Amino acid sequence: MWHWAAAASSLVIVIFLLVSRLRRRHPETHYDWGNIDLGDLSFPSGFLWGTATAAHQIEGGLTNNWSDFEEDRGLERSGAACEHWTLWRDDFQLLSDLGVGSYRFSVEWSRLEPEPGSWDEGEMRVYSDMVDDLVSRGIRPMVTLHHFSHPTWWEERGGFADRRNLPDFLSYCERVFDELSDRVEYWCTINEPTVFSAMGYTLGQFPPGKRGIRLTMRVMRNLMRGHAMVYRSLKGRRPECQLGVAKNVTLFDPASRWSPVDWLVARILEWLWNGSWRKGMTTGRMLGSRIPGAKDSLDFVGLNYYTHFLTGLFLPTATKELQFAKREHEVATEFGYPMYAEGFRRAIDFVSELGVPIEITENGVADAEDTLRPEHIRRHLWVVSEAIKEGHDIRSYHHWSLMDNFEWAEGYSMRFGLHAVDFQTQERALRKSGCLLYTSDAADEGLGVDLGGRRII
Ligand code: FCB
Repeated sequence: MWHWAAAASSLVIVIFLLVSRLRRRHPETHYDWGNIDLGDLSFPSGFLWGTATAAHQIEGGLTNNWSDFEEDRGLERSGAACEHWTLWRDDFQLLSDLGVGSYRFSVEWSRLEPEPGSWDEGEMRVYSDMVDDLVSRGIRPMVTLHHFSHPTWWEERGGFADRRNLPDFLSYCERVFDELSDRVEYWCTINEPTVFSAMGYTLGQFPPGKRGIRLTMRVMRNLMRGHAMVYRSLKGRRPECQLGVAKNVTLFDPASRWSPVDWLVARILEWLWNGSWRKGMTTGRMLGSRIPGAKDSLDFVGLNYYTHFLTGLFLPTATKELQFAKREHEVATEFGYPMYAEGFRRAIDFVSELGVPIEITENGVADAEDTLRPEHIRRHLWVVSEAIKEGHDIRSYHHWSLMDNFEWAEGYSMRFGLHAVDFQTQERALRKSGCLLYTSDAADEGLGVDLGGRRII
């Protein structure tokens, strides 16, 4: 009996020491925002301000893996979306009115290759015209080749779940690159590989709506294989172009910082979501497999940052069940997850280890009434500014998003736009916090901070 008690107490001590060490090594930063001067911002000259969108969320009239999924699952349909495919010139005027210097958007594979091997030159010309128009406005185009959507025929072949399909992806990318790379220097191969894998293959909330851990890991590896193949080929075609991935860095923190179980879950998820990906990019090995060409296959890293997740024993198995936990003092965003700008710095530190320049490819918040967004922007920009002051090589900031759009499984309920969109009339109206990148009278309303001629909220 006595030695059982001794063994049990030693175990408790070991666990206690282990948890203490984890607490020290992985601090969950929280700032005293009330005592921070959010107007104290400085950005280097040449820093680019931008906004981001994705084809399926704004263009309208698409038939692809996503529209099929919306129909099969009885989800809200993307339908006409923002009718950007016909209104794009007006939307680009909005970019000019905002005064942005960079615009990240995606090209829709299903438009260009609706059937295997049949290429739609007319649709390609529209993207080419878009690029010309941006360039003539003095706006840098940044093109994403895969932002969650692809043709139905490719999905039917298994998409990224089957590595034999990767050559199709490669030839689509090469073709778009050959058409646009004389004017587009910055490219994201794939948007948020981990979100795509986890949502589509673990949680089943994105197409193809499957649920399997091994399958998810296979998709993760194939996405990295796909990226590496595309990177090597495009670099070979035009070495001066800059290629990266838009990586969503979500942080996983234990709900209770004294619970060994919560720590275990948090560390495993953090590894699967972030660590294994970074390891793949730096060593060429991911989740037990060698990924040819992946090592050093980034000229820059795109960082998409939104929040942290507090994790524990009872993990949700579907997003519907997600009860986003938050710390008591944190504010919940409309999506449900907390506003946690401190994590932006942790995410920046994390991607900095890759040793390449950072482009903030997405950051924003769902907020229809625009009550939280101004503070959200102020805090996140302050964090970026501090990170730059402390030596991080951050080149741009793209706000998600230029305008309200189709927010995937959430349909049109989540409003991320600097412009509010009335989907009946397709009218766009600049939200107050759209003044973030606005060059005119924002400061007169007491919103702006003067930043070398540009007004920042
Ligand atoms: C990101 C996606 C983007 C948008 C924002 C809110 O995960 O890349 O398309 O939906 O979230």
